[in-house]
Amino acid sequence: MIEVKHLTRSYGSVSPLTVLHNVSLKVEAGEFVAITGPSGSGKSTLMGLMAGLDRPTSGQVFIQNEDITQASENELSRLRGEKVGFVFQNFLLMQTLTALENTMLPAEILGRELAEKRARELLARVGLGERVDHYPSQLSGGEMQRVAIARAFINTPPVLFADEPTGNLDSKNGQKIVELLLELNRTYESTLILITHNPELARLSNREIRLKDGRIVEILAHRGGSHKKTAAASKGAALGATRRAPAKSKGTKRK
Ligand SMILES: Nc1ncnc2c1ncn2[C@@H]1O[C@H](COP(=O)(O)OP(=O)(O)O)[C@@H](O)[C@H]1O
Ligand SMILES: [Mg+2]
Repeated sequence: MIEVKHLTRSYGSVSPLTVLHNVSLKVEAGEFVAITGPSGSGKSTLMGLMAGLDRPTSGQVFIQNEDITQASENELSRLRGEKVGFVFQNFLLMQTLTALENTMLPAEILGRELAEKRARELLARVGLGERVDHYPSQLSGGEMQRVAIARAFINTPPVLFADEPTGNLDSKNGQKIVELLLELNRTYESTLILITHNPELARLSNREIRLKDGRIVEILAHRGGSHKKTAAASKGAALGATRRAPAKSKGTKRK
């Protein structure tokens, strides 16, 4: 589904600062991968490169066998529209648009009528059926993030990228948001790549990739935890066959 080969990203030309060093990684279709690591370890940089929002200094990123690092700006914007959805920590909703209009925004390609129909379905699905005409200022943080999730799924992208989507929410709303992501992920059989600081959320993933100083320092195979209850247990089991890294001791992990 996604293959990252020897990815390096440096900033500056005089004395370049390398924030991602030779990272290689494969993500299978349908997999839920968590990316963790301290602040500044390169998580957002890696995700931006995988999603075609940024270009690497060297290395390649393949999405469904297409090398996105070779793509022109036009090809990249088509690719982002067709293949990837995004959810960010700060929701990034348009303040002057309603929940419905925000959700429809990336769906021009579907045509107005179909876009509206799908947007209403998705908003109902995330529990906001009664709030379609509300503006972001009339919604709580958790509700705004649910709008952002509906918007991210409107074009049924094969891959969803979420950069600390629960970072601005309390733990109860954060848990709900992750459960929702998992549920939609299962429904649309998409691949989920999630950056999180929360060890409990990371444990819901199939694999946790830990970064430090721009390098992968550990890959943990998780059993999916409560993910099994809320999402596809069978998918978790099937993915077991593709796991390469053994689960490591959790002795050093924060409880
Ligand atoms: N545009 C930029 N110019 C220079 N340095 C940057 C830029 N963007 C990010 N960095 C640096 O890259 C490093 C990794 O950042 P980031 O990927 O955002 O980390 P994380 O998401 O893990 O907190 C940080 O040291 C950050 O300061
Ligand atoms: Mg970040």
